[in-house]
Amino acid sequence: MPRSTRQNRRVRQRDLVATPDSDAAWVFGYGSLIWRPGFEYLQAQPAILPGYVRRFWQGSHDHRGIPEQPGRVVTLIPQADAHCLGMAYLLPQQTVKTTFEQLDHREKNGYSRINSELHLNDGNRVDGLVYIATEGNFAYLGEAPMAEIARQIVRSEGPSGHNLEYLQELALALRQLGADDPHVFELESLAVTMNKPPDPD
Ligand code: SIN
Repeated sequence: MPRSTRQNRRVRQRDLVATPDSDAAWVFGYGSLIWRPGFEYLQAQPAILPGYVRRFWQGSHDHRGIPEQPGRVVTLIPQADAHCLGMAYLLPQQTVKTTFEQLDHREKNGYSRINSELHLNDGNRVDGLVYIATEGNFAYLGEAPMAEIARQIVRSEGPSGHNLEYLQELALALRQLGADDPHVFELESLAVTMNKPPDPD
């Protein structure tokens, strides 16, 4: 059995329908939700989600690709001793329901909600909701050689824009957060090189 299959067993099917806490609803973003949350919040701060790594292993047929040529976006892969740096947002009580309706729609291409403990930058620990696309969802693409992932990103575009823009915005946001994310930074470097126009000579 591939290693990633064993790892993903940790996210159980019954955990994939988490609902927000009605008093203090936090949502954690690790992909586009870092640099384009697109909803109202009371507070935003860097946060760590323990036990996961960020990977460009999820297909995007509706935002950064199209059904005939899906792009690649990030999901979280369980990995003991790892952690994923992202942004945590505290939602105003009045907008919790509508915000999650909007996010469910935005993340409909294979993502489910899980509840997990977040380590906030201010030292507090809170429960928050996280959108995760687990192995086996209809849009899951999984692991591939880095050059192949980069090539797919360079070639893909969808209704939300070019896939390379998603990768570059994410890499920029992660640099601003001071994140150490070799997977994202290596893909960015490969994709930017592949995207360079050929020398005229
Ligand atoms: C997230 O940002 O937290 C989920 C994945 C994405 O929308 O890029």
